[in-house]
Amino acid sequence: MIVVKFRVVVVVFFLSFLWTFANCDVAVSCDLKENCILPCQFQPGPEEVIHWMKENIPVHSFYYNKDQLGNQDQRFKGRTSVFKDQISSGNASLLLKNVNIQDGGRYRCYTSTTRGNQELFIPLTVDVPVQKVYIEQSGESIICRSEGIYPEPTLTWSTDPESSSSIESKPSVQQNGQLYSISSSLTRSEIDAGLNYSCTVSTKKSRRTATLFKLTTVTGSESSESERAIQCSDSKTPVTRFIWRFDHSQIIVTQSEAGGSYTVSEEWRPYVKSVSETGSLTLQNLSTDKKGIYTCELINVDETLIKNTFLQITEEKSHSNAIIIGVVVVGVVAVIAAIVLLLVYRNIKDRKNKNKMKKDGENKPDENESFHHLMHVNL
Ligand SMILES: *[C@@H]1O[C@H](CO)[C@@H](O)[C@H](O)[C@H]1NC(C)=O
Ligand SMILES: *[C@@H]1O[C@H](CO)[C@@H](O)[C@H](O)[C@H]1NC(C)=O
Ligand SMILES: *[C@@H]1O[C@H](CO)[C@@H](O)[C@H](O)[C@H]1NC(C)=O
Repeated sequence: MIVVKFRVVVVVFFLSFLWTFANCDVAVSCDLKENCILPCQFQPGPEEVIHWMKENIPVHSFYYNKDQLGNQDQRFKGRTSVFKDQISSGNASLLLKNVNIQDGGRYRCYTSTTRGNQELFIPLTVDVPVQKVYIEQSGESIICRSEGIYPEPTLTWSTDPESSSSIESKPSVQQNGQLYSISSSLTRSEIDAGLNYSCTVSTKKSRRTATLFKLTTVTGSESSESERAIQCSDSKTPVTRFIWRFDHSQIIVTQSEAGGSYTVSEEWRPYVKSVSETGSLTLQNLSTDKKGIYTCELINVDETLIKNTFLQITEEKSHSNAIIIGVVVVGVVAVIAAIVLLLVYRNIKDRKNKNKMKKDGENKPDENESFHHLMHVNL
């Protein structure tokens, strides 16, 4: 009997060792604010007891067939549960809701039944995915940055078309509390104004790209009737979120949700005619003070696109000058033409008169005479 018992203990011990060994390396990572399952399995048996602890802090307990939350730490209140219908089949996994940064750490799953007990350790890391990547041209450099990320992110640059010299700008990484910030900038010597630049920030589980398109120029004319459309993207599909800015500061229009309505800032209302579904902005009532850089920032599910367009505005004055010059030129030409025609006509008439005199002398009827008379009258 003793031998048998000893064997069972050895087997149980070995099994639990196996379980521990098999499971302790299974690190779990969950995204911030998401729900998370910490896995834990045991040999099914009667009278289950489950204790979930995090570094000796009580997280969740279950025995006598129900949750026992008397000792539960405040920080886990209302966020934990076990799958009661699956406990009898040896599933002691813990559901942890709305995960926060402090939840990261080493969890212990203790289970026991009349058949024995076991202890598993499950390390949890809480990932904070890359939320937003900022890219901007500032002075003569292009800067890319992102913040509030966990674990440590990486940053890479690329160009369109691919540039022959690869960009090897080492990003600077900072850790603030637990979260990381990352940034990188390209200096003037590294920038080719004819290329589009993309910057990708990624962790193992998340990635976002921001693209800065090369600067384009469009021309509009200063007049209350003229309109000028500026494209936001090449995409023909409706865009999700966008912001239009003027000279890197003033906000012109924002649209904060896909297919939603856009909001034009008070100041820009007289100048914004419309904004299309694809985000292109139509301006009206332009004056030269509206000359400058229009930036469209488009935020999609996994990327941010930045397009700068320089709007050149031609002055109305030069237009009317041109018209006046045009009118003057046309007038002068017309006068000269009239004078020339008159001279030519005189010349012809003189010759005809001479001929007529000759013909009159010969006393022959002249068919041209009546025509000449007509011409004379008409003149
Ligand atoms: C335990 O149950 C949960 C909920 O159904 C399930 O998601 C999980 O995969 C199960 N765990 C194991 C180890 O079977
Ligand atoms: C840059 O992006 C624009 C817009 O998508 C595209 O039309 C163009 O071909 C890209 N490359 C260059 C070198 O302009
Ligand atoms: C044009 O702009 C001026 C201000 O510059 C504004 O007073 C006027 O109402 C605008 N006209 C239209 C048609 O919006």
